[in-house]
Amino acid sequence: MEAEQIVGALMTPKGRGDPYPLYAAARELGPVRRVKDLPMHLCTGYAEINAVLRDNAFGKLEFDRLPEEWRSLIAEDGAMESFSRSVLEMNPPNHRRVRSLMSSAFTQRRVAGLEPAIVRMTEGLLDELAALGEGGRPVDFMENFAFRLPVNVICELLGVPEEDRYRFRPLAHDLTFVLELTENFDDFGPADAAAVQLRAYFTELAERRRAEPQDDLVSALVQVNDAHDGRLSDAELLGNLLLLLVAGFETTTNLLGNGLYLGFEHPEVLDLVRKGEISVAAYVEEVLRHDSPVQLTSRIAVSEDARIGGHHVPPGEQVMLLIGAANRDPARFENPDVFDPTRSDNVPLSFGAGIHYCLGQGLARLEGKIAFEMLLERFPVMELAAQPERRDRLVLRGYQTLPITVSSAA
Ligand code: HEM
Repeated sequence: MEAEQIVGALMTPKGRGDPYPLYAAARELGPVRRVKDLPMHLCTGYAEINAVLRDNAFGKLEFDRLPEEWRSLIAEDGAMESFSRSVLEMNPPNHRRVRSLMSSAFTQRRVAGLEPAIVRMTEGLLDELAALGEGGRPVDFMENFAFRLPVNVICELLGVPEEDRYRFRPLAHDLTFVLELTENFDDFGPADAAAVQLRAYFTELAERRRAEPQDDLVSALVQVNDAHDGRLSDAELLGNLLLLLVAGFETTTNLLGNGLYLGFEHPEVLDLVRKGEISVAAYVEEVLRHDSPVQLTSRIAVSEDARIGGHHVPPGEQVMLLIGAANRDPARFENPDVFDPTRSDNVPLSFGAGIHYCLGQGLARLEGKIAFEMLLERFPVMELAAQPERRDRLVLRGYQTLPITVSSAA
């Protein structure tokens, strides 16, 4: 298969459903390959992707640098523009300025301090799961646990009131469609509509916190915005609040769902985790590697001499970085298709690398650890109640539904 056929196939429901054979086909072409007739390069190698993410010859396609004819296609205040005003889509020096404002909320100490709250929330959700699943009634793990835990955690940090939290699942799902590979900006209608709703919500919440500040992230960012000293513009305030909300739960929801499903596929591994012979942290790390919640990101060459090894990428051309492929690169991982939490030196690229390295990785890992520890302890028996349904997404990979039965009796 040629690179352009692989890109085409990754944009079909079948390719999104199981991209791993396509990654393997891409790897046959070498760790990096130009896509014919497109200003695009496909990168599958672990070492190569790791290097590009850390190389300032590559950067993001910043909104203000987009060609005018593209910008005119992008809805004003829509999803693309929102993301583009966030730290995720910025290059230095703007990136440094905004990231430093946000990092103080995610220091190791701050994250560790959240542990008791995460344990408390998990306990509450497990009680609800037990009640819903009483007598062997099937319950949807995605809706009732995998979504609820991370959305509560990030909303607690941001300062979003409890009664507002559960409305965000469909909105985030629509919004994050802009991260997908698509040939057609017309597909962004629902994403833009979600952005409008979320921006209205956060504009109103920011107003409330402006009037009455609390000890939360929205209040902290509003104060920086109010200083009017160039550290955080109005558009950046909203763009980053939206990013934090969706980055804070969509991915972690998928980590929990992908992780539980892998447990059903590998009951012998789950038994070893229950017995304490495999640590939950190692299990979470292997879930991240084997079925990464974020499958790809991209960069463009921002310098004349952007190179990946000997491969030259002309300025303005895009490199599609297949994280899901890097995590299964046989040059980096032995038997990469095998799910094996006991593998040594397991450092997947699921949280990226370099200046955009995931700000929430410590929090996501902590949530994963607490969730699986407490789930396994609370329910000695968990079974798949029906075939799960995958989300029809490539970039943010996870399940829409995962029906299970739970039992507290061993
Ligand atoms: C399993 C869960 C998660 C995964 C797999 C994940 C993955 C990633 C990846 C791959 C990137 C880098 C994207 C790139 O280089 O283009 C990233 C960036 C980011 N993530 Fe996460 N993430 C997760 C959880 C979280 C959480 C819980 C939060 C917030 C509480 C968060 C906030 C962010 C932010 C703000 C960025 C942008 C950082 C920057 O551009 O400097 N993520 N994440």
